[in-house]
Amino acid sequence: MKKTLLRGGSVVSEGEMKPRDVLIGTNGIIEAIQPLIQDHKDADIVDVSGKLLFPLLIDCHVHFREPGMEEKATMQTEAAAALSGGVGLVCDMPNTIPPCVTIAALADKVRRAEKISGCTLKFFFGVTEAIHLVTLKDLWTGTSLELKRLKNHCCGVKLYLDHSTGDQKVDGGIVEEIFRTCAELKIPLVAHCEDSEMNEKALQENVASPQTIDLHSKNRSPESEATSIEYAISLARKTGAAFHVAHLSTKQGIELVRAAKKEKLPVTCEVAPHHLFLTTDDYVTLGTFGKMNPPLRSSEHRDALWAGIIDGTVDCIATDHAPHTIAEKESGEPLKAPSGVPGVETMLSLLLSVASGKWPNENSKTKKTNAKISYHDILRLCFTNPNRIFSLGASSLAVKNPARIAIIDPMQEWLIEGKSLHSKCGWTPFEGWKVSGKVARTIA
Ligand code: DOR
Ligand code: ZN
Repeated sequence: MKKTLLRGGSVVSEGEMKPRDVLIGTNGIIEAIQPLIQDHKDADIVDVSGKLLFPLLIDCHVHFREPGMEEKATMQTEAAAALSGGVGLVCDMPNTIPPCVTIAALADKVRRAEKISGCTLKFFFGVTEAIHLVTLKDLWTGTSLELKRLKNHCCGVKLYLDHSTGDQKVDGGIVEEIFRTCAELKIPLVAHCEDSEMNEKALQENVASPQTIDLHSKNRSPESEATSIEYAISLARKTGAAFHVAHLSTKQGIELVRAAKKEKLPVTCEVAPHHLFLTTDDYVTLGTFGKMNPPLRSSEHRDALWAGIIDGTVDCIATDHAPHTIAEKESGEPLKAPSGVPGVETMLSLLLSVASGKWPNENSKTKKTNAKISYHDILRLCFTNPNRIFSLGASSLAVKNPARIAIIDPMQEWLIEGKSLHSKCGWTPFEGWKVSGKVARTIA
């Protein structure tokens, strides 16, 4: 086997982008990154001129559905989707069947993930009842080789403050105790923030309204998300737990996280591509294929998320990749359709389009915003920050590290089509969008 020499590309790193050649040894380790590496008789030369070299990116919020919902997706199909989208490490959520709330369930997921090549899967542990907290403590403090091994594959705790797919709403009486435990044991803590009482009340109040899909955004209001985020931040303040807001979708949420950071609280957040590129205006074309939790918002909220990206309030972009079958999305009453959209394969191209100054889908119902993002921002939001927040240990593009590289053609335009993507669900909320920037090849 020969070494590989990536010749003529630009390496994207924090704050800069340099023309660099990259030499990868036969053992897959990066041996050199230099302006010009001489021809190497032992190396296959790959011309990557005009291409960007990123480390394989991280998506810290996905639902790969295995075990238990293989009709929607499997680890294998979704790992292929991730790699094709330049993502080489994902953090999978616990709302599988059985839920990932026991050591046995975690061990089963780890065993399945070991068979997947190229894409690394890490797992969030779910806590819905007091007994799961006892197990979590065992997992985090256990001294046996097996527990240490499993802990290595666990990226933290996921809490649902309201029901979503999988009905994993946490028992409200133990939430503070969970924050305390995470503070004490330094466990990353992520929450899906929506206020269940407010959501329940809205549902009752709106029961006589026409049950059309746009009602979903009223049944799960911006105020509900904000109330829940405020509560969770108050617990981070009280306990000192490092707390991460999942798929933050509102202007109020951004303001709360911005204020928490000013207060120097250990609070971070992620936003999802569907909230950055779609709004309630898109229900007209998407119907139930635009239904997710938290739901689509107005463009005022969408603009606030982009402002949060620009001023550093937003730490990560993560997809909340949540495939459901087309049949499930199309069956029955719109508001009863399952919530969730796929996204792991399209995130990078959507962001690259904005970085190149080409807003994707100029013609969509949702008008473009004055969003700005650079290639370095993409690296920070989809690699450096999630890697740090969840201690994921992903390899940056540096000498002596394993070569895990996404080779990107920033100029290649392509049309997003569900049938051509790798996700088992076979659809995308970005159907027909023209994007600029494509993964030409991954080295994993
Ligand atoms: O839209 C969503 N889908 N939100 C969630 O909280 C869960 C997810 C899923 O698993 O389907
Ligand atoms: Zn999710």
